[in-house]
Amino acid sequence: MEKKFLEDNLSITVREWMYYHQKNIHFNQKYRGLNMIKNPFDLIVYEEMLWELKPTVIIEIGNAFGGFSLWLYDRMKLIGIDGKFITIDLASSADISLSRFKSDRFISIVGDCNNPMTVDIVKSYIGQGDTVLIIEDSAHTFDNTFKALENYKDIVTVGSYFIIEDGICDLLDLGIKPGPMSAVERWISGNPNYKIDRDRERYIITYNPKGYLKRIK
Ligand SMILES: C[S@@+](CC[C@H](N)C(=O)[O-])C[C@H]1O[C@@H](n2cnc3c(N)ncnc32)[C@H](O)[C@@H]1O
Repeated sequence: MEKKFLEDNLSITVREWMYYHQKNIHFNQKYRGLNMIKNPFDLIVYEEMLWELKPTVIIEIGNAFGGFSLWLYDRMKLIGIDGKFITIDLASSADISLSRFKSDRFISIVGDCNNPMTVDIVKSYIGQGDTVLIIEDSAHTFDNTFKALENYKDIVTVGSYFIIEDGICDLLDLGIKPGPMSAVERWISGNPNYKIDRDRERYIITYNPKGYLKRIK
């Protein structure tokens, strides 16, 4: 891997840093031995949000290798949240590597997030008084993102968030187009119960531009 040092790279642009990170770091980062595909600036935003919101149900849509699933579940325990972590993926690979953590508080569902059966299973875990946070990080196509927003929008609690990851696909030369940011821009115009909270992008560098959606009513 090409090494980068601050003194040699103070003049690179944010765009150049994003491509550097995507190429060298993004798929090469681990948490407790499992790959976690997460930009470190977004990770600190998540940390801040979890402490602030203390969600009793976290739903991760798309887990890939399970590193971020475990990170989220560990944060719930560290913060002292008495709740459930639910993760969904089409593939069973993370389900297998996470099997030793599975319990009635760590639920792994193998299936299509937009299959009505999957949606019903997820909903069956949510009780009165829960604070629900959703992180959508699956196919990143316009259609899949739009459908997930429609299928799960009612279970996010007021004051909490529906986070749509990887809107950078629409801004940079990578990933699928039209992607998650385009889906959000179209969806939000018909959903006044939500607003895009751009304060969550205060570190400027994020993989989730326009992706921190706050339920306001
Ligand atoms: C970007 S990766 C998830 C990364 C993970 N959240 C992380 O932070 O490390 C996307 C995952 O979404 C899954 N996926 C794609 N389409 C899906 C769908 N319709 N329903 C459920 N999972 C899906 C893929 O199998 C893949 O493992």
